[in-house]
Amino acid sequence: MATNKRKFGFWSVVGIIVFSLFWVALLSGNILWTSDTPPLQIIDDMDNQPKVKGQAPSSFFADGKATRDPIEYTVPRTGTKYDVSLDEADTKNINTVPATPEVLARGKNRFETMCTPCHNHDGKGNGLVVQKGFANPPSLVRPEAIAYTDGKFFHVMSAGQNIMSSYADKLSELDRWCIVHYIRVMQKGGTVPAVSQSTSSSDKQTTAQAGTAKTASAQ
Ligand code: HEC
Repeated sequence: MATNKRKFGFWSVVGIIVFSLFWVALLSGNILWTSDTPPLQIIDDMDNQPKVKGQAPSSFFADGKATRDPIEYTVPRTGTKYDVSLDEADTKNINTVPATPEVLARGKNRFETMCTPCHNHDGKGNGLVVQKGFANPPSLVRPEAIAYTDGKFFHVMSAGQNIMSSYADKLSELDRWCIVHYIRVMQKGGTVPAVSQSTSSSDKQTTAQAGTAKTASAQ
């Protein structure tokens, strides 16, 4: 009797251990198993955080945008706030930046980076984003655009126009004038030789060289 009791106790312990190991193995998974589905997480740690991603839609805000606009009275830390209306653009935005080779090179560099996705390398529109379905912008080298004042170009870049958003937060005032000069070169069918310098060093160089020319204030 006593022996049987001991035997029964031994196998119960083995059974419980095997049973527990089975569940541990099942729940923890095996390092050699592969799966495309995300692992079952009992505690999330910080892997999954409730957050919004840039430019994603959001049901939380009334306007449906996750990216928030700056609140009223926000002022830029660098540069000046652009407050010129379209009517005033021709007379108030005065281009005082000289079209030096550095300015043209900088204008080309910024245009190629910020504008070609839509306006294409020749300024005629049909850039890559347009080829993927975005509205085709009007040609920047057509006669009407050639007749625009520098101030009008500066205005569109600073304030945006219809579905084209403002680039005031991405391009300094000086960069915007550099782009205006480069657009003028494109309109005349000219080219600007590529300069082999990194964006940041050309930033400093152009600023140093064109800095002496007072950048037209947008006031
Ligand atoms: C995301 C695409 C996109 C980018 C990037 C973009 N634009 Fe535009 N742009 C447009 C569209 C679309 C229009 C036409 C807007 C409208 O319907 O009035 C436009 C219009 C313009 C106009 C007015 C043309 C006219 O005759 O009315 C100018 C000038 C202009 N863009 C310059 C620029 C410059 C300079 C850059 C780079 C700093 C730039 N755009 C970047 C899409 C873009």
